Amino acid sequence: MGYVKAVVGTQYGDEGKGKIVDQLAKDADYVVRFQGGNNAGHTIVIDGEEHILHFIPAGIFQGKTCVIGNGAVLDLDKLKEEVIGLEQRGVSVLENLLISENAHLILPSHVEESKTDKIGGTGRGIAPAYTSKSNKTGLRVRDIINVQCPIDQVDLDARPNLTLFRDYLLKHSYLMPNIVNVAKMLNFEIDMEKNILIEGAQATGLDIDHGEYPFVTSSNCSAGGICTGTGIGPTRITDIIGVAKAYVTRVDRDGSGPLVTQLDGWHGEFIRKQGNEYGATTKRPRRVGWFDAVLTRHSAMINDLDELIITKLDILDGLDELKICTAYELDGEIIYDYPSDGIVLRQCSPVYETMPGWKGSVKGIRSSRDLPIEAVRYVKRIEDLVNVPITMVTNGRDRKDYIIFD
Ligand code: IMP
Repeated sequence: MGYVKAVVGTQYGDEGKGKIVDQLAKDADYVVRFQGGNNAGHTIVIDGEEHILHFIPAGIFQGKTCVIGNGAVLDLDKLKEEVIGLEQRGVSVLENLLISENAHLILPSHVEESKTDKIGGTGRGIAPAYTSKSNKTGLRVRDIINVQCPIDQVDLDARPNLTLFRDYLLKHSYLMPNIVNVAKMLNFEIDMEKNILIEGAQATGLDIDHGEYPFVTSSNCSAGGICTGTGIGPTRITDIIGVAKAYVTRVDRDGSGPLVTQLDGWHGEFIRKQGNEYGATTKRPRRVGWFDAVLTRHSAMINDLDELIITKLDILDGLDELKICTAYELDGEIIYDYPSDGIVLRQCSPVYETMPGWKGSVKGIRSSRDLPIEAVRYVKRIEDLVNVPITMVTNGRDRKDYIIFD
């Protein structure tokens, strides 16, 4: 039997999913993106060299076939830059890349439009592209093929963007051999018992339906998006793995999104510096907070997580005390359920449990038996609060820095 395994973010993105996907991709046949665009930035460090991916799934470094599903949105100019950048570093991209004919395009006009987004975004045209998809004026990857053929005037009248962006589409005709019916291809490969690894971008806290609306992105980043974003039916998915940092970070243009456990003082600065918490895509300093078990518990439910992976445990090295948010206080009441509403969340304050930190560093450790007992207790407490087995922790930037947690 093959598997269909998914890796999804449980906080606000940037949990280190790229590194996990790179790790898990070893025995996968396909690595598949299902939503988002170049608002994502997945960083992978191989032998000290940093690679940042925006569109291409992280399986590319393992030489796997990488697939971009219909739920993603693509800026063809930026995709080209990414492809060229990788090929120049000796990574074969075009021979390992398949793109859904139904994926929508982020057009230059979308990028312009998003510069004045009222609810801060990454300025990459994400919300305008998904808006065009919904209001049915969007262009899709298959239009690269459509413009090569004579198009009926009636169709052109109904789709003025086809004329407007004709040259733009023609410029990218080099992608024609990479454009496929991803839904059909993946379902066939699942029938053939191939291993499919699905790579989420962003996270449940930013999910357009289950996140902190309106401070969210424009796609379904949670597991539900896998089905609509690839064409794989729900019962074919075998494992869903959530990823959470050992603390929490959030990026937004003006800091207006909720972050219940935000740390403004010395602790926040310490974690930001140690963790190099500056956006891979935007370079903006990320807001930092203590681990929020209410948020990750919500993500566990929404994604029906089978496993949880905790990343960047080493960043907490050297702190005397650690806090975990176990509940929120809202209007004098303690609440344990996560309100998926940005306005309500901004009024919540954290209820903390304090735990001792550990002496020394967890860096370089390869077995959970060698971890300081305080680090084990911290991870185990998160496991209890989120109620999902933690199977791995990561403790450094390199792809080798991880510990199977048992
Ligand atoms: P958009 O996806 O560009 O529309 O941005 C919407 C919100 O999601 C903003 O607060 C972004 O900073 C945030 N966001 C989008 N993608 C990511 C990501 O990959 N990591 C972290 N935050 C993200």
